[in-house]
Amino acid sequence: AQKKIAVVVGSLRKDSLNRKLALAIAHLAPPDFTFEHVRIDDLPLYDQDQDGNQAPAVKRLKTEIAAADGVLFVTPEYNRAIPGVLKNAIDNASRPYGQSAWAGKPAGVVGISIGQIGTAVAQQQLRAVLAYLDMPTLGQPEVFLQNKEGLFDDKGHVAEGSKQFLQGWVDKYVAWVNDHSK
Ligand code: FNR
Repeated sequence: AQKKIAVVVGSLRKDSLNRKLALAIAHLAPPDFTFEHVRIDDLPLYDQDQDGNQAPAVKRLKTEIAAADGVLFVTPEYNRAIPGVLKNAIDNASRPYGQSAWAGKPAGVVGISIGQIGTAVAQQQLRAVLAYLDMPTLGQPEVFLQNKEGLFDDKGHVAEGSKQFLQGWVDKYVAWVNDHSK
């Protein structure tokens, strides 16, 4: 059956490496998997006083996550942590209490940075958050990419040297979602 993945990119910038990584992953997935980027740049800052009156953008995000068979988080690391925009999206769609959109959705976590330890710290933090949200998250292989000149081509494909590595991850992720989605 067709599987739909909601892709959450933790960077808002136009030329985001993480956005390119998300596209490259989608290119490597089998035809019965579709990847749809969810918008997080128009969400309000999370405010618990609005739990009973969520903004249209929050409701939209929750609907998109609810409709997905799995979630893919593709995130940079900002100051050794997950970007605020990503945490804000997670918090918004986790409420009101008991009505989280995330619960039970199988997740994957990957990221790319320009730094040597390529998003490892941010990914560890994100995993702790996803565990709390009751999202079964693929443990291995891990994807901590460091950007190199020419890693992505202008069509959003990953260069030959990294293709096999990323394909291995995609194959595991696809199997993970198939095993864990209802
Ligand atoms: C960074 N960058 C960064 N890189 C890293 O590996 N660890 C870090 O803690 C940080 N911290 C950090 C903070 C802030 C505010 C910015 C803007 C950047 C560099 C980061 O890897 C680089 O900007 C990436 O290109 C960001 O990902 P996108 O936007 O290309 O997807």
